[in-house]
Amino acid sequence: MHVSRLSRSWTAYVCFLSLVCLFIAPAVTVKHNDFKTCSQSGFCKRNRAYADHALELSSWEAPYKILPDSTSFKDGQLQAIILKTINEQGDTVRLPVTVSFLQSGVARVTVDEEKRQKGDIELRHNSQVRKERCNEAEKWAIVGGTALDKGAEVAFSDKTQTTVKYGPDAKFEAVVHFAPFSVDFRRDGNSHVKLNDHGLLNMEHWRPKIDKPEPEKKEGEADGGEAEGEKKEEEPKGEDESTWWEEKFGGNTDSKPRGPESIGLDISFVGYDHVFGIPEHTGPLSLKETRGGEGNYEEPYRLYNADVFEYILDSPMTLYGAIPFMQAHKKDSSVGVFWLNGAETWVDITKDKGSKNPLAIGTSSKTTTNTHWISESGLLDVFVFLGPTPQDLTKSYGELTGTTAMPQEFAIGYHQCRWNYVSDDDVKDVDRKMDKFKIPYDVIWLDIEYTDGKKYFTWDGNMFKDPIGMGKQLDASGRKLVTIIDPHIKNENDYSVVSQLKSKDLAVHNKDNDIYEGWCWPGSSHWVDCFNPEAIKWWKSLFQYSAFQGTMENTWVWNDMNEPSVFNGPEVTMPKDNIHHGGWEHRDIHNINGMTFHNATYEALLSRKKGELRRPFVLTRSFFSGSQRIGAMWTGDNQASWDHLGASIPMILAQGISGFPFAGADVGGFFGNPDADLQVRWYQAGAFYPFFRGHAHIDSRRREPYLIGEPYTGMVTSALRLRYSLLPSWYTAFYQAHKEGSPIVRPMFYTNPEDEGGLAVDDQMFVGNTGLLVKPIVEQDKESTDIYIPDSEVYYDYFTYEIISTSKGKKSTVSAPLDKIPLLMQGGHIFPRRDRPRRSTALMKWDDYTLVVTLPKAGGKAEGELYTDDGDSFDFEKGQYIHRKFVLDGNKLSSKDFEARDTKSIKAGEWLKNMKKVTVDKIIVVGAPASWAGKEEVTVTGTGADGKTSWTAQVDYTAAAKGKAAFAVVRRVGAAIGEDWNISFD
Ligand code: NOJ
Repeated sequence: MHVSRLSRSWTAYVCFLSLVCLFIAPAVTVKHNDFKTCSQSGFCKRNRAYADHALELSSWEAPYKILPDSTSFKDGQLQAIILKTINEQGDTVRLPVTVSFLQSGVARVTVDEEKRQKGDIELRHNSQVRKERCNEAEKWAIVGGTALDKGAEVAFSDKTQTTVKYGPDAKFEAVVHFAPFSVDFRRDGNSHVKLNDHGLLNMEHWRPKIDKPEPEKKEGEADGGEAEGEKKEEEPKGEDESTWWEEKFGGNTDSKPRGPESIGLDISFVGYDHVFGIPEHTGPLSLKETRGGEGNYEEPYRLYNADVFEYILDSPMTLYGAIPFMQAHKKDSSVGVFWLNGAETWVDITKDKGSKNPLAIGTSSKTTTNTHWISESGLLDVFVFLGPTPQDLTKSYGELTGTTAMPQEFAIGYHQCRWNYVSDDDVKDVDRKMDKFKIPYDVIWLDIEYTDGKKYFTWDGNMFKDPIGMGKQLDASGRKLVTIIDPHIKNENDYSVVSQLKSKDLAVHNKDNDIYEGWCWPGSSHWVDCFNPEAIKWWKSLFQYSAFQGTMENTWVWNDMNEPSVFNGPEVTMPKDNIHHGGWEHRDIHNINGMTFHNATYEALLSRKKGELRRPFVLTRSFFSGSQRIGAMWTGDNQASWDHLGASIPMILAQGISGFPFAGADVGGFFGNPDADLQVRWYQAGAFYPFFRGHAHIDSRRREPYLIGEPYTGMVTSALRLRYSLLPSWYTAFYQAHKEGSPIVRPMFYTNPEDEGGLAVDDQMFVGNTGLLVKPIVEQDKESTDIYIPDSEVYYDYFTYEIISTSKGKKSTVSAPLDKIPLLMQGGHIFPRRDRPRRSTALMKWDDYTLVVTLPKAGGKAEGELYTDDGDSFDFEKGQYIHRKFVLDGNKLSSKDFEARDTKSIKAGEWLKNMKKVTVDKIIVVGAPASWAGKEEVTVTGTGADGKTSWTAQVDYTAAAKGKAAFAVVRRVGAAIGEDWNISFD
């Protein structure tokens, strides 16, 4: 009976697959030349040409000047009018500028256009869109940190400039030059960031279209100029108007009702030779130059969220998400800028390596990195951060855009996904097999095939007969189910979701203000417009347990295709002249679109049932600044190849320093079939991704870890167990990210900004502040690797306690046969683990802890922390958490509340009460001093789980031998994890 049902299911599945293949076809045909280069994107081409022109001319005078009499300064804000000269007759347009000095020490420069601001422009084609420059990005990205610094003051002002002193101890200065307009941001008397120093500021002002007679077309010349045809022989003299009023690409015509409206600005980082950030791109963490030359890119980095099929590596091409936050680093100094704009954006980078710049004298680097930012529309709105540390940047950026949401604890365990688990029986079978092979995992995922014909909020009734039964089986071991919900809603009769979407008018509109229709997985579809508060309200209603039947408390959500991906749209997305709620063109807010959908789903999961308030888990593919407040991201459709495995490390590091650290890549690679070695190495790397999920394309072979076969399954299981044992340390790192905006996995420059040699190292990472340094193997047949050591501390091999002999700035060779992850422990730390192997995080909830102490080089202290809470509710916001600080100072090890809270006065809820029974069970001291040899007991004072206040625990000491450090293990410590205690090794 069971067998025949299964075989029927399989027949149905095979038929189904053939149908699916029909639908995949549009995506498969996507090629890289389906995406624009700068010269195919009118505004990018125009701004690059503007830059070329300005930089070529020694006499270039930027046409933007502050009207001296227009300046005023009040309450931390400087306001003025910039006049842009627009023709030889000297006509000008007025551009109001505001420079705001914020309490955090961040400065913000905003430039608008008066005519558009006042709505004093004419739209073409009877368009219904807004007339202002778009200011919507702020509403979605910024959540705080904008209070003005009333202490900022004008230090100097005349007819040519105003200098404002601001920031901590008034160490920062902004010198606003009037003619041409430019701003020089200085710290301690030196220039660090300069706006418009090269005069590339370009704000395309509104102008009416003056119809000229059509130039006669030569035979064979294509419509729409170069994008689709041959390069024209001669550029038009003066400004290139060919893309002002209309642009064609990929068979689509952009009607551009507001005409040209781009903004461009050069931003120089004086004395800095490394810039980082502006994800999402493949390529090195230290961004490359983009104007050609050996080893450089020819194209600017592009930020235009897109579903790029089979993306290429080492490329400035756009990917699924955009964070326009860039940082510059040199030895001991970090600065940055955040370009707040939701429209398509390109960033050119060049490095001026000469010593021409007198301001660079005396700094460690004589290079100045010049960047050129170009956006298609919107306000010019840029935040400037003067550091001086990398931590200052991530903290201030976190204050503005929010920090990583505290995750569900299960979400940092391992996720098992593929496109697709085909039935509820299939899911239950995988679940059982993972148990049978003792492989830990927390979540199993359902991709699009679980639905009835790609209609979200429905189930394929043949294959998923009993979703609740499936959910319950998972719940028995504390496991979860994630179902995919995409933003395209199938356009089909008798589908209540689409009927509601239409009747309530909650979908994105086309340029004629009718409901927009395009193609995605279901075929003809409409897109929910989550800029609309009413759409969010409606979206929430769809996730109620009573509405989305078959879901339960352990069901969570995956948002995919939210760039949005539109198979038949220009560049696989929506036309730019589509219209969103509020009258914004899609052009204005394209890069924010994915975040609004992610946000709506987050809101929906918060309100599935009255009285149920749990932290939502929602994975997103598309993102913008601020998405970190909502959930996790992954790097999309990578390939089962060694180079894609390698590329994932700098990509995840870039996410981390850009404020969105809950990031991962598909383990095993999405497309293709990884061999056993690649799978093992990928799981070892994945165990160090903040978001850890195995995923595979529908055409790839099944590859659940138990299928790989021994010895590989065992190696993968070890990697997973390593992740699970270190979960307390990971969770602590998430808490730091939540509090401080810090990355979860950290590149060398972040932890050691004083070490010049480590600035560009992007193939190894520290886990939070644990001192754990991992360098995943990303090459085939590699049995050892060289790890870069960024400081003078002692390092120990994680598994053998071998002492790593090297010095600061040198590499150390670490052996790494296939079953070993190159993982070192930096001396001077204490990090928590839970060592009992279990099947899921939920089952580890009340397990005791192990503390690993790594002795520092000489006489120093070892320190560390543990943060833990119920991993599910928001009670941590009301003090229901444990946050300990551990210190080993000489022969004394102590545990105190990290925040010096009076923990006794906190009224314990259920979770805190239960935690009273949870103890530190074991303490391992690596590098234990020789004076501890022969010791058999240590004295513990404080609070034991059973209420005792002073007792002894057994200690075993193993002497140093053959390059391995001595270590001591204290067993059955029995000290309550949430209470104060001391251990004396005297
Ligand atoms: C594209 C996503 O990137 C991929 O992970 C997913 O499997 C497919 N869409 C199908 O939903």
